[in-house]
Amino acid sequence: SVSNKRFPEGFLWGGATAANQIEGGFDEGNKGLNIADVLPGGKGRLKVVNEPGFNYEIDHEKHRYPNHEAIDFYHRYKEDIALFAEMGFKVFRMSIAWTRIFPNGTELEPNEEGLAFYDRVFDELHKHGIEPVVTISHYEMPVNLTKEYGGWRSRDVIAFFERYARAILNRYKDKVKYWMTFNEINSAMHFPIMSMGFTTKEGEHHYQAIFQAFHHQFVASSLAVKACREIIPDAEIGCMILAAPVYSYDSNPENVMHALQKEQMFNYFCADVHVRGEYPAYAQRFFKEHDVKLELHDGDIELIKEFTVDYIGFSYYMSITEKKDKKPEEIIAGNVLEGVKNPFLQASDWGWEIDPTGLRIILNKLYYRYQVPLFVVENGLGANDKVEEDGSINDDYRIDYLRSHVEAMAEAIEDGVDLMGYTSWGCIDLVSMSTGEYSKRYGFIYVDKHDDGSGTLERKKKKSFHWYKKVIASNGENL
Ligand code: BG6
Repeated sequence: SVSNKRFPEGFLWGGATAANQIEGGFDEGNKGLNIADVLPGGKGRLKVVNEPGFNYEIDHEKHRYPNHEAIDFYHRYKEDIALFAEMGFKVFRMSIAWTRIFPNGTELEPNEEGLAFYDRVFDELHKHGIEPVVTISHYEMPVNLTKEYGGWRSRDVIAFFERYARAILNRYKDKVKYWMTFNEINSAMHFPIMSMGFTTKEGEHHYQAIFQAFHHQFVASSLAVKACREIIPDAEIGCMILAAPVYSYDSNPENVMHALQKEQMFNYFCADVHVRGEYPAYAQRFFKEHDVKLELHDGDIELIKEFTVDYIGFSYYMSITEKKDKKPEEIIAGNVLEGVKNPFLQASDWGWEIDPTGLRIILNKLYYRYQVPLFVVENGLGANDKVEEDGSINDDYRIDYLRSHVEAMAEAIEDGVDLMGYTSWGCIDLVSMSTGEYSKRYGFIYVDKHDDGSGTLERKKKKSFHWYKKVIASNGENL
């Protein structure tokens, strides 16, 4: 335990969610459909988009759509926020659903009902002394923009996004001081459908499409930073990346180099552009070698250079282990990032390798590369939970996971890392992103809802609820 190590005063303890994974009410309040609304539940959900005939339509005969109801935060937010307050949350990370504000993405005026909903949520949070941390875009591309424009493939989406960002920055300027632009922007390297709202077709020049879309998002992110500086000068606005340190499988320099290149293109590429405001030279080489030619407009490069982010928010679930020539059977099952098995680590039931030291490693790597404040905005263990006959849920495995990661953060702070806060993922059970399951639970709060659609939505405190309350009350001393 961390007897003599301390978290700074004012450390932002809390929990994290995304609109599409908690709200439900998918067609209420004039909300339009977003990408999560048309992706079915189940382990194949990220692959379904590549099936012939998939057309971003809802098909109830074939599929279930857990995001439509999710955990009904749309109607139950007061009860949930009261529970967060009981744990002592200082902050609550959430996203605004783009399609509550601009149902098709293309409207000229925002939808008042959608805006009013988030006013109610922010007011409720403030009533309990909790600051919202808002992700502007968390895997919630309006389906209309996917169908009509191919999501971030199209430069036109920049203007739609800017209108949306300005609308919410203006509306909530007195209520929200912590912002982030794109959730896990770099995840598009592995599953573009979520963060970019499109998928490449067979035979298409994959990297060309992906990096052009990244460029559009970088411009859009800088426009949001610019708008934030104008509208809420005292706010802090960050980027958000999926951070997973990449280890070499062994000391073979070829494998070490391969791991380094993956780490550069996966972890650092987006952060380099967001924080340093420049395309790094290693990426230019990658573009040359993969025949990627970015179409840039006048002023793009200057804009990206001028409007860089204040901090790096990132998710951390696992490390990745890589080797140069890996055989398909060596790739660890279930892991969305496609590494090989690390012989020193145990994996979760979903194949995500548990590695608290990896968090300390990535905190050090990011901090000493960028020298900007860091914010762990996601971390947690997706697991099957069991409700005992007496109603208790004894999730000691989750407490162990979280404890070891909080200890890793304390070590990193001792190493000199400037860390703003920690919001563990899925502080209340929600719909999983990659598999659309209820059964992959992350919460301190159990939600009675199941993959077959049954359940009362009743909330129950797990053992970890009481543990986290203690952690926050002691500012990370009492683990
Ligand atoms: C991150 C996302 O990838 O990890 C979240 O930002 C997601 O939206 C979380 O829920 C955990 O992934 P999963 O697939 O277990 O829900």
